[in-house]
Amino acid sequence: MGRYAGGGLLFLLLSLLPLLRADSRVDPMIRLPSDLGANRINGHDGDESVGTRWAVLIAGSSGYGNYRHQADICHAYQIMKAGGLKDENIIVFMYDDIAYNEENPRPGVIINHPQGGDVYAGVPKDYVGEDVNVGNFFAVLLGNSSALTGGSKKVVDSGPDDHIFVYYSDHGGPGVLGMPTYPHLYADDLVAVLKKKHALGTYKSLVFYLEACESGSIFEGLLPNDINVYATTASNAEESSWGTYCPGEFPSPPPEYWTCLGDLYSVAWMEDSDRHNLRTESLKQQYHLVKARTSADNSGSFGSHVMQYGNLDLSVDHLYLYMGSNPANDNVTFIDDNALPLFSMAVNQRDADLVYYWHKFKQSSQGSQQKLDAQRQLLDVMSHRLHVDNSIELVAKLLFGSKKGMEVLKGGRPAGQPLVDDWDCLKSMVRSFEAQCGSLSQYGMKHMRSLANICNAGIRKETMAEVAAQACLRFPSNPWSSLHRGFSA
Ligand SMILES: *[C@@H]1O[C@H](CO)[C@@H](O)[C@H](O)[C@H]1NC(C)=O
Ligand SMILES: *[C@@H]1O[C@H](CO)[C@@H](O)[C@H](O)[C@H]1NC(C)=O
Repeated sequence: MGRYAGGGLLFLLLSLLPLLRADSRVDPMIRLPSDLGANRINGHDGDESVGTRWAVLIAGSSGYGNYRHQADICHAYQIMKAGGLKDENIIVFMYDDIAYNEENPRPGVIINHPQGGDVYAGVPKDYVGEDVNVGNFFAVLLGNSSALTGGSKKVVDSGPDDHIFVYYSDHGGPGVLGMPTYPHLYADDLVAVLKKKHALGTYKSLVFYLEACESGSIFEGLLPNDINVYATTASNAEESSWGTYCPGEFPSPPPEYWTCLGDLYSVAWMEDSDRHNLRTESLKQQYHLVKARTSADNSGSFGSHVMQYGNLDLSVDHLYLYMGSNPANDNVTFIDDNALPLFSMAVNQRDADLVYYWHKFKQSSQGSQQKLDAQRQLLDVMSHRLHVDNSIELVAKLLFGSKKGMEVLKGGRPAGQPLVDDWDCLKSMVRSFEAQCGSLSQYGMKHMRSLANICNAGIRKETMAEVAAQACLRFPSNPWSSLHRGFSA
């Protein structure tokens, strides 16, 4: 606390300010650890012994090139576990194809940091493989076991005093989050489920941490502030989020790894949670630390804007209320300048698969089947990207003409407005496009804003179907075919 030694009294007054004000949002960043007991505002921080802590952790991807999302989720599990949550209250969704993947240099082990230990050990396999799907995720959140298909049947069977923490990590796009199965997870459906959960009266407060590209768009203009949900997102509504500990970066994963080990925002909150006393650190303090670390780069060449949504009053709550706290950190005083090192580089999540295929190609031995596979995969992925980009562009030009078409594609909406007014329209646009042009796929989620703009411009799905048929003369083959695994909407 050296920095504040001289200003002790001022500091104390500042830290008491919230108690003196009716406006509970006033909350100085720094607090004395001794404020632990005094820090109760509007009952949010209430009696921390009341109620049960629940955590729902979900990795939305599959495939070794997406190693990092399941690594993030496993790491989060270890934090909850060390914090004292019981396995019966932690529900994990992950495809579970990483630990024993033939490309994993350490079979049965997953790491989330270049020098990190195993985070896979002990992780419950509640929902794995095809059981990682939107229906199960919603059923788990709502505590509705009769709506489940497969899995451990564990659900958030919560009561009115309980606190729920939800953490999701994967690819996304405007208004949409990926799943390893189809359909993907749409923002309107997610927010409707949160509202329904609130209406059931089965939580006191819920915190949602979200890692994905354009993740701000999931809550912007959609998440109400009166349902006791507080959310932070890796990026704003219009930018990608970032993978980290990627090959070729510093710090780099061990040389035998050709994939990124984590994501920037995710690693930032988890490494912070690992080392601080969560009894004295508030959500708001973590938000600021994570925001600073995720937008680390002053040159603007990487990093994103971490955002917060929903009921911001909840951000004065201690992390302890949601994640528990590792007793080993009980004596760690929270000071805002003991933040972790800034990252020196990161990879745009959308390009992380190219980095993976490239390093796999580079590192595989000359003439091996693996090298040939990596080369073919890289070329396939690049050509599918081109196909999707060109098709969307052509559709817009056919609909609106060359000049206006490009304007519609690039158009945004004012901050605070949702991506689209008619979500059913957006989903039907996705299906019409995919029926003619093949799956948007992981990469193609980036075009969701263009499809939303086409809806906002009043185009009907029949028109879209006709135009997509003209634009896409070539229907891609597996795995890019929408016939392969169904539509993403
Ligand atoms: C639970 O799921 C079943 C089956 O989908 C549905 O009929 C029922 O209405 C759901 N109950 C609640 C409380 O959401
Ligand atoms: C924290 O400090 C107290 C008092 O000095 C000590 O008894 C306790 O063992 C310490 N806990 C940890 C985890 O270091």
